[in-house]
Amino acid sequence: MNGSERGKARPQVSATMVLLMLFTLTPALLAGEELEPSRNLADLENFVVQDCGSCHGLTLKGGLGPSLRPENLNHLPEEAIAAIIREGVPGTAMPPWKPLLAPADIEWISHQLKTGKLVSP
Ligand code: HEC
Repeated sequence: MNGSERGKARPQVSATMVLLMLFTLTPALLAGEELEPSRNLADLENFVVQDCGSCHGLTLKGGLGPSLRPENLNHLPEEAIAAIIREGVPGTAMPPWKPLLAPADIEWISHQLKTGKLVSP
């Protein structure tokens, strides 16, 4: 032993690894059959109205955050919406939701937003 252990690289989850995981997992998720959300749908629907609605408006027509109604989401494919929900929008009030929502929940929400199933016309 000569005390040169210092320079040993410690395993670290780098941003690159996270990105790699996203890129490898996403296609698998998209190719798979529709995922079942991890909680019951009424809970999840409530979550969107209450938690997302606190910024995006209870009818999702916009507030602090932009409208999340389908007619306002044409510029975003479903997977981009999911990525935004997962990671948030850095530098804005939009927080990352991955600590609170399972991937299947995020996919479910993205699909509902895109198809407008959570909002009345
Ligand atoms: C604390 C406030 C806040 C909460 C809570 C919040 N958002 Fe956001 N969200 C924002 C803001 C602000 C933006 C705009 C970011 C920007 O400037 O690009 C945004 C942007 C978005 C976008 C992109 C819209 C677009 O047209 O670019 C989506 C999709 C979205 N939020 C979904 C959600 C969902 C789903 C939830 C609930 C799980 C949620 N947000 C909760 C503040 C919030």
